[in-house]
Amino acid sequence: MADTWNPPEHPRLRDGDVLLRRHTAADLDAIVEQARDADSVRFTTVPTPYGRADAEGFVAGLGAAWERGEVAGWAVETGGRFAGSVDLRWREAGWAEIGFGLAPWARGRGVMTCAVRLALAWGFSDLGLAGVHWQAVVGNTASWRVAEKCGFRREGEVRGLLVHRGERLDGWIGSLLAGELVR
Ligand SMILES: CC(C)(COP(=O)(O)OP(=O)(O)OC[C@H]1O[C@@H](n2cnc3c(N)ncnc32)[C@H](O)[C@@H]1OP(=O)(O)O)[C@@H](O)C(=O)NCCC(=O)NCCS
Repeated sequence: MADTWNPPEHPRLRDGDVLLRRHTAADLDAIVEQARDADSVRFTTVPTPYGRADAEGFVAGLGAAWERGEVAGWAVETGGRFAGSVDLRWREAGWAEIGFGLAPWARGRGVMTCAVRLALAWGFSDLGLAGVHWQAVVGNTASWRVAEKCGFRREGEVRGLLVHRGERLDGWIGSLLAGELVR
């Protein structure tokens, strides 16, 4: 397998009411609102403070990274409304890392678990991934529950694993091999 993937057409992936699709300019305000939420700041690497230019850069960067075969990123929609984002980041030699975040109003009803399953299934089938890593700040139980429900094995707690805005944080790490995805 090459060092990046050969980017296929950006797919629309759906399971019931959850749709994964390309981000559009219409999502920008909702992206800004989500990035300012306290848990998004605590548990992800979003810039702080976060403004419209950051959202524009995020959307443009994801599109360019798709074309380079480095990141497969989608907007997550539920009820016809933008609710968050999920992505698979290429990590060489057939593996990727999963990343995700959801607006507070959409949390707690299985939306991200459904979105992550869609992204992973596509990554294993269409990109031919051999495995996927998941990482989160220690204590991010909601993120772990999503990963666990998809079949990830949590393998460790690593001191200083993650860098968030210049600060090293302890992290959980887990993995999922092709064939282990729980639907
Ligand atoms: C992590 C996140 C995407 C989960 O999205 P979601 O759609 O709410 O996830 P789901 O509803 O599929 O599953 C969440 C699970 O975590 C549980 N949960 C939620 N908050 C929790 C908390 N504070 N403590 C313990 N469990 C929690 C829910 O009960 C649910 O588990 P269950 O299915 O056993 O009931 C969302 O909480 C989020 O965007 N958080 C901020 C950003 C973030 O942390 N991103 C991940 C970085 S690694």
